[in-house]
Amino acid sequence: MKQIALKLQHLSFAYQDQRVLDNVTFQIDKGSFAGIIGPNGGGKTTLLKLIMGFYKPVEGTIEVFGQPPAASMQLIGYVPQTVRFDKQFPISVLEVVLMGRLSHLPWYGFYSNKDRKAAIEALERVAIADLQNRAFGTLSGGQAQRTLIARALVSSPALLLLDEPTASVDPQAQNEIYALLNTLRGQLTILMVTHDLNVAIKLVDQVICVQNHVFVLSPEEVCKHFAFGLYHTPLDIVTPFQEKP
Ligand SMILES: Nc1ncnc2c1ncn2[C@@H]1O[C@H](COP(=O)(O)OP(=O)(O)O)[C@@H](O)[C@H]1O
Ligand SMILES: [Mg+2]
Repeated sequence: MKQIALKLQHLSFAYQDQRVLDNVTFQIDKGSFAGIIGPNGGGKTTLLKLIMGFYKPVEGTIEVFGQPPAASMQLIGYVPQTVRFDKQFPISVLEVVLMGRLSHLPWYGFYSNKDRKAAIEALERVAIADLQNRAFGTLSGGQAQRTLIARALVSSPALLLLDEPTASVDPQAQNEIYALLNTLRGQLTILMVTHDLNVAIKLVDQVICVQNHVFVLSPEEVCKHFAFGLYHTPLDIVTPFQEKP
């Protein structure tokens, strides 16, 4: 039987009196790669924050590997939607990645050799170990995003959440990041918010459409479905459908 990484049942959430998510039910198998799509303001980021336990549902339940979010925080790695660093702020790539080990620090608060080793390994996984001593502010958008993915990977998460990881990078770096995520396929469970429907179709096993309500489509169904216009702007599905690896 397949193990379940994430299970939401009848989840609803509101900010004050604005209901953002309504009766959300879906689940994701362990080791699968799921995409989240949906219009701006539809509740995608809020959904990720609920999964991480930043907010509590008004109704319904969330289980991450069978436990409530508060008990599974150590199992989750998170790449937030946008991270703005002061370009002058003197922090190296390695130090940014080490921030992902903060929850593992002992009370006296020094990073151990084990933390450093884990940080370098995470940089190797995203193929930028050679940049470890560079100032983070001098990186290209794609390199910065890889650093943030390494930061999320450094605590060896079982579930990786990414919120529009390619929103601020050029098209070539976008493709490289998707290729990189594809290499992680199967090693952990991945849930990624994306605006890129081609990616949703080609890369992921399951597409979760979020617009207050949530419904789940297979990548094959996405093409058909968008003829009905969940998005307001016309969508280009330029690249023909390709088989997943
Ligand atoms: N901290 C907050 N307080 C109040 N309203 C919020 C907050 N964060 C988001 N919202 C509102 O909740 C809705 C969903 O936002 P969000 O989850 O960020 O959507 P998405 O990521 O799909 O663009 C939007 O209407 C947004 O304005
Ligand atoms: Mg968002």
